[in-house]
Amino acid sequence: MASPAETRKFEQFAYEITDVDGVPHMALIAEKLKTMKHRQLRQDDILLCTFPKSGTHWAWEILNMIVAGKAEYTKHWQNSAWLEYRTEEELEALTSPRVLHTHLLPRQLPESVWKLGCKIVFVQRNPKDCAVSCFSQVISQVWKDEEGMETVCFTGSWDDYLSCYQDGYIPYGLIFDYIRDWWKTAEQYNICQVHYKDMKQDCVNEIRRMAEYLDRPLPEKTYVEIAEACSFSNLKHANEKLKDQTYHFQWEPGTSGYFRKGKTGDWKNFFTVAQSEKFEKIYEARLNEPFPY
Ligand code: A3P
Repeated sequence: MASPAETRKFEQFAYEITDVDGVPHMALIAEKLKTMKHRQLRQDDILLCTFPKSGTHWAWEILNMIVAGKAEYTKHWQNSAWLEYRTEEELEALTSPRVLHTHLLPRQLPESVWKLGCKIVFVQRNPKDCAVSCFSQVISQVWKDEEGMETVCFTGSWDDYLSCYQDGYIPYGLIFDYIRDWWKTAEQYNICQVHYKDMKQDCVNEIRRMAEYLDRPLPEKTYVEIAEACSFSNLKHANEKLKDQTYHFQWEPGTSGYFRKGKTGDWKNFFTVAQSEKFEKIYEARLNEPFPY
């Protein structure tokens, strides 16, 4: 049971948020998280690890195309393979090799990931752009409560949201701690680290790097075809118009959905100078290095 002070932290969120092992999470996945460490994965599972809004849909589609060996879209939205959100039965029904995605910290993952040596692709993005993208999502995505009442996921302003974000009072906690923990893990475990800005700059090169890491190299022509199929406009069209919509969430009419702008640097349209400076200071204190963007 959360204390009154803890409840206030999350009061502008439509859903209940609870602490699991020191990290805030949506209460609806708390039960699954309790048994997550004992989940049995498959040796050929590929884990796509990202903090929310880092380009997960984009990388997930690319990884599936690499596995398929061709630029063919998956039938379902990425949420169909969300490790901490789907049931074990739903994930069990997926054919190998599965591309599972997760926003969990390394220490929250199933122990079988490390024992089996599953491949891990870690995608990161400028945390300021992640914050803006996340805010844009939570003010447009529809949340249905147990009585069927619909509201947007977050009812506060940008200033309110940024304050929660940089204090780590959002589902999955503080982005800086997430990055720090994954960097530490990458010192001991062979992880393919990818950056959103590099995917924007030279997607073919990043696809090639991912394919080689997965020991699934493809002809150069296929990398180009995958990059083209996964361009912002093509992937948006495929998800919104071509795919089965079973695993898609509901958004407010007229909002842009998961595929919003697809750019680097949109943070400049949201952050004030003072907000940007404070954000960088927190980054620097948590990661012990200058803000790199
Ligand atoms: P914006 O809100 O800044 O537009 P995630 O998939 O982790 O939820 O991340 C969503 C973010 O990735 C959104 O950012 C979305 O537009 C962007 N994105 C999705 N597909 C993309 C693509 N093919 N190219 C560039 N950005 C993409």
